[in-house]
Amino acid sequence: MSEPILPPIGMLAELTHRCPLQCPYCSNPLELLKANRELDTQTWLDLFSQAADLGVLQVHLSGGEPTLRRDLEQLISGLSARGVYTNLITAGINIAEGRIEAFAEAGLDHLQLSFQGARPATTDRIGNHSGSHEKKLSTARRARAAGLPLTINAPIHRHNIEEVPEFIDLALSLGAERLEIANVQYAGWALANRDWLMPERAAVDRQAEIVAAAQERLAGVINIDFVPPDYFAIYPKPCMGGWARDAFMVTPDGTVLPCHAAQTIPSLRFERFGARSLADIWTDSPAFNAFRGTEWMQEPCRSCERREIDWGGCRCQAMAIARDAAATDPVCIKSPIHARMAMFIDETQRSAANTAADEAFVYRRIGVVTEPA
Ligand code: SF4
Ligand code: FES
Repeated sequence: MSEPILPPIGMLAELTHRCPLQCPYCSNPLELLKANRELDTQTWLDLFSQAADLGVLQVHLSGGEPTLRRDLEQLISGLSARGVYTNLITAGINIAEGRIEAFAEAGLDHLQLSFQGARPATTDRIGNHSGSHEKKLSTARRARAAGLPLTINAPIHRHNIEEVPEFIDLALSLGAERLEIANVQYAGWALANRDWLMPERAAVDRQAEIVAAAQERLAGVINIDFVPPDYFAIYPKPCMGGWARDAFMVTPDGTVLPCHAAQTIPSLRFERFGARSLADIWTDSPAFNAFRGTEWMQEPCRSCERREIDWGGCRCQAMAIARDAAATDPVCIKSPIHARMAMFIDETQRSAANTAADEAFVYRRIGVVTEPA
């Protein structure tokens, strides 16, 4: 018997795909939407209201760069009026004077700021934006001055993995409550740039030791969350906490998805907010029901004792590597093609050694479509 469908708790709202940075590790899709495809203010407010009715307790306002939306204060205010916890995920570049204070006044609960490197040269190079590091430092200070709790987000890959100790110092110096050391997940632009981004095994092991020691040393001072790199693991993560279990996301044009890479699964059709209510999409959409629970699972997941821990891992990673979205995530040691992960790692180390680093990657840009790896 299938389990009852519980209401969602969290929602990621990608308000826009526009962004002043061009990070090659971005998880946005390769075909980015232009500004004229974005939902208008009233439609976002209606969507947020339906999300609150449905049971959503927290909304992550993201993109692209969400502060490029001139109506962001209004959107925060709409959510706050419904008692929804709001987290702004920003690159922290060129935010006009007074706006961070206005976000706080509108009811923003938390700000999450990404740094592409702990060193200015790394941040500027990875985001392809000169002076970006300085701008981020200023955003962090303004957020703290406005009384906003702050998380520093450090997306980790081969070109900044040696800076992990400096990321920890940076987060402490900025008075952050939380540091997220998150190794990049290979979806969207990151998948297209996988060869360039994949770290070396020795660096991954060193990083894990450094983070574990810092978590112990700084307990009670700062929370350090660590997302280890998938390809080096033996069990997958419960991607999105399980497909359509307690969270969903919405793209800038109002397409409602179970996760950020779901549109790479060609057999699924996703619905737009407006054509149908959020509640109908959450409960009845065939795409949301495709991988809910455990009944869709094949062996070895079907009879595995971990099937309600990781929910079979990531459907989009299974699609990308096994070419079957219902397969066991190949990260899992029980997957018949788990050995491919080690092969990818070895291949990327060889190709990285053979290619000049700056010639080997594609910066994220609207209007440029590249083939995934
Ligand atoms: Fe998770 Fe499936 Fe691997 Fe079991 S076999 S650990 S459920 S991915
Ligand atoms: Fe789609 Fe993991 S990104 S399930």
